[in-house]
Amino acid sequence: MKDSFNREIDYVRISVTDRCDLRCTYCMPATGICFLQKQEVLSTNEILFLVRKLAEHGIKKVKITGGEPLTRRDTVGLIRSIKEIKGIEKVTLTTNGIQLERYAEALKEAKLDGINISIDTLNQDDFREITRVGDLKRVLAGLEKAIEVALPNIKVNTVARGELTAKEICEIAALAKVNPIHIRFIELMPIGLGKGCPGKTQEEIFAVLESNYGTLVPFEQRLGNGPASYFTLPDFNGKIGFISALGHCFCAECDRIRVTADGQLKTCLHMDDGCDLKEALQTENEELLLRQILAAIERKPEKHHFLETQGDSRLMSQIGG
Ligand code: GTP
Ligand code: 5AD
Ligand code: SF4
Repeated sequence: MKDSFNREIDYVRISVTDRCDLRCTYCMPATGICFLQKQEVLSTNEILFLVRKLAEHGIKKVKITGGEPLTRRDTVGLIRSIKEIKGIEKVTLTTNGIQLERYAEALKEAKLDGINISIDTLNQDDFREITRVGDLKRVLAGLEKAIEVALPNIKVNTVARGELTAKEICEIAALAKVNPIHIRFIELMPIGLGKGCPGKTQEEIFAVLESNYGTLVPFEQRLGNGPASYFTLPDFNGKIGFISALGHCFCAECDRIRVTADGQLKTCLHMDDGCDLKEALQTENEELLLRQILAAIERKPEKHHFLETQGDSRLMSQIGG
């Protein structure tokens, strides 16, 4: 499938739940969230039907997101089934890591191709403050287990909050010095509660890392399917990546669509421009589904307009990131 800017669309990000076992301040409010009812959330069969049809039309890569995907009980089984779909080459997962220690082995057995674990700080108290309810020890135990069972392509996501200190930047980056994992610093995007949150720029983080660890050299090979650009540091095992949607816009290479937990197709993270696939999926109406998907891809915008328009008013956890 090609969009109207001649970009090949071969990647879908599927949110399997809008629920999460953390409450990161830039992502979810502490209370009063209106979660989807169980019957509103796409079932495993609906997701599998969707992926089968997408695979028949050129989708090769699937990312499972949330909310927190591991709060949904059948996520590992779903991954295993998606892996078996003809045409699907890569299935990856983005998780907050809270339940990873328990699931790492099963994910390995399900042949997951890559995992991204969100770690915004290595300080227990700060972690609790950011996530409101989280225990950093559990996430680190999950990361350790993922390394131990040799899950492939392990990456850490660190949102570049304004409060991130030079010490924290160095500590987090050092995870890639000793371990075969990659660290990505993510520029805060003005989505949901992220709007108005102070953030650090890629350049600020770059400067801290270079003054502590040496020159960051661009790493040209692709790691994962996402928009990160990677760099090497002397004596580091893993790479350092940056995902900077505003400062270093990557929309020209956009190759993806998204589906929310309740079956809304989105052609851009920022825009609320998609359409409701639920009926087509519930009734397994292949013709309607394809008509909707192709029409949406035709409308896919050239780039995000974070700074000019309001965009999707939902929370990041409701969109899927
Ligand atoms: P991999 O490289 O395959 O691991 O994928 P990824 O880095 O895209 O996945 P992940 O789910 O870990 O997302 C990391 C960050 O990138 C999150 O903040 C996402 O919201 C952001 N992101 C992913 N895709 C896009 C996109 O198309 N546009 C924008 N603006 N941000 C994106
Ligand atoms: N801007 C950038 N990244 C965000 N994430 C959540 N909200 C935002 C935002 N407003 C990150 C999470 C997770 C990834 C999927 O998206 O921390 O690592
Ligand atoms: Fe949950 Fe991720 Fe949002 Fe944090 S950023 S509340 S871990 S969905």
